[in-house]
Amino acid sequence: MKKKIFSGVQPSAIPTIGNYIGAMKHFVALQDDYDCTYCIVNQHAITVPQNPKKLKEQTRSLAALYLALGIDPEKSIIFVQSEVPAHAQAAWIVQCNVGIGELERMTQYKDKSQKQESVSAGLLTYPPLMVADIILYNSEFVPVGEDQKQHMELTRDFVLRFNSRYGNGNDLLVLPDAIIPKEGARVMSLQTPNKKMSKSDDNVKEYISLLDEPAVIRKKIKSAVTDSSGVIEYNPSEKPGISNLLTIFSAFTDRSIADLVEQYASSGYGNFKADLAEAIIAVLEPMQERYKQLLASTELDDILTDGAKRANAIASKTLKKMERAVGLTR
Ligand code: AQP
Repeated sequence: MKKKIFSGVQPSAIPTIGNYIGAMKHFVALQDDYDCTYCIVNQHAITVPQNPKKLKEQTRSLAALYLALGIDPEKSIIFVQSEVPAHAQAAWIVQCNVGIGELERMTQYKDKSQKQESVSAGLLTYPPLMVADIILYNSEFVPVGEDQKQHMELTRDFVLRFNSRYGNGNDLLVLPDAIIPKEGARVMSLQTPNKKMSKSDDNVKEYISLLDEPAVIRKKIKSAVTDSSGVIEYNPSEKPGISNLLTIFSAFTDRSIADLVEQYASSGYGNFKADLAEAIIAVLEPMQERYKQLLASTELDDILTDGAKRANAIASKTLKKMERAVGLTR
């Protein structure tokens, strides 16, 4: 039997090349060897304010992007989180078995809460919902970027705690492992290369969205912050800008950073940036064509309806098991 994989992306905005390099690119590669479930985690997105109409559009758009990137609904389950009620139900049981202190320590909570005028309780309890997402599908592996490492540690702590509290010697829930890529696990902002690239950044120059047009991609790469030395070398602490661009180049061409450094050793930043922009466009442009066709089709809705049905069948079984274990049954 194939091992199980689960992962998700928030439809909080159009995904960036950071989301692609850190996570989505791997979703496609993994689906031949694993039993994969990929979720559009719209309940996570509302932990910070969202425009309802835009959220709805972005949810459908993210589903079309999953498919356009190559996720095959014959091989993998693709579904929208809010269409599977077990996520919120299991998250409640998780919340009741983690401490507030554990949640307050989460770096992402600290970062995101600082940016909000009023912090929702959901932002604090985001990680228990993520724990629920993962455990409901008996997931053994979770491909994520580095920013989710701490949440994955919480997931593992929760599973071990739950099994020891309620399992009577049995492993009721599966203990998952994160799959974090060796390179590209933390793609940085194009303008502030010591800050993570994020899809909901207010400044659009900080990121490249998967739906940016070629002219926009060229412009954003051209204006990406580097340094004045003009030397192309990989050194994230001394030269964060150019090192980040090398990481992006490597991810979009599947060439090693060493190979790229060798090729561009004697060329200036201008040539390097121009070639990098074309390498990104070569991957994104054909994908965007497929995306447009999918978005206009009813096929997309059929795939999501079927995905929710398949996801519900698996998730409700695990939820029942959890409810029985904690005594939430008559
Ligand atoms: N900069 C990044 N580099 C590599 N991987 C990244 N991921 C996010 N940013 C980078 C990975 O993408 C997956 C989906 O992320 P998410 O939608 O769950 O939310 P996030 O981690 O909070 O990503 P963003 O782009 O920063 O979203 P917003 O702005 O909405 O908060 C995850 O596997 C994540 O690790």
